[in-house]
Amino acid sequence: MFDPNLFDQKHIQSQSSVALTVFAVGKYLDVYLGNFITSAEKHFMLGLQVTYYVFTDQADKVPIIELGPRRSLKVIQEFKGRFGSEALGDSVALVHAWYYKLPKDKFTYDRNPKSKAYMETGDYYYHAAIFGGLCDNVKDLADYCFLGIMEDKLNNVEALWHDESHLNKYFWLHKPSRLVSPEYCWDPVINEKRDINVTRLIWAPKHYDKLRTR
Ligand code: GAL
Repeated sequence: MFDPNLFDQKHIQSQSSVALTVFAVGKYLDVYLGNFITSAEKHFMLGLQVTYYVFTDQADKVPIIELGPRRSLKVIQEFKGRFGSEALGDSVALVHAWYYKLPKDKFTYDRNPKSKAYMETGDYYYHAAIFGGLCDNVKDLADYCFLGIMEDKLNNVEALWHDESHLNKYFWLHKPSRLVSPEYCWDPVINEKRDINVTRLIWAPKHYDKLRTR
């Protein structure tokens, strides 16, 4: 139904490069990762530049596999320290690593009155990377964000930080019962970390230029 050479030529000409991300955590690393990469080396995007991003908690166990030309592998550690039951609660929100020290007027809430996420003020700036709680509460949060985003779409607006803006509005109206510190999702780019004794989960580098459609 298609001519593979036509597709290949087009992408080779435009020098497309492809990132393949894979999560290899715990036993899944031992059981699947080697075969996943070895077989990808035979079948996945041959002829193009390929980077495998392996997200793992056991960097030293990533198998060493000889890769073809213009193919490379980067290991990204996720979790670094205990992230345990102390983080559980009925409704859990994460304080954003970049804003926990800043005054409220610096918080990046949505400021467009046309958006459902619009807020004049709040108490914290939460990071949407992590949220949790009892099933009903998480469902309520997800529904709230979904409906807000849909209504915004109808009005042709998009909140400043997308789902995160709606999440901030939700937690302003329905206070979380547990706040987790930025330790639970720390950005290693922040040099000033006098308050942060342990990093538990860390941000992978953001590639907005590659990942954002607009
Ligand atoms: C950035 C982060 C975004 C968003 C934003 C809010 O540091 O990369 O995902 O949370 O802060 O201002």
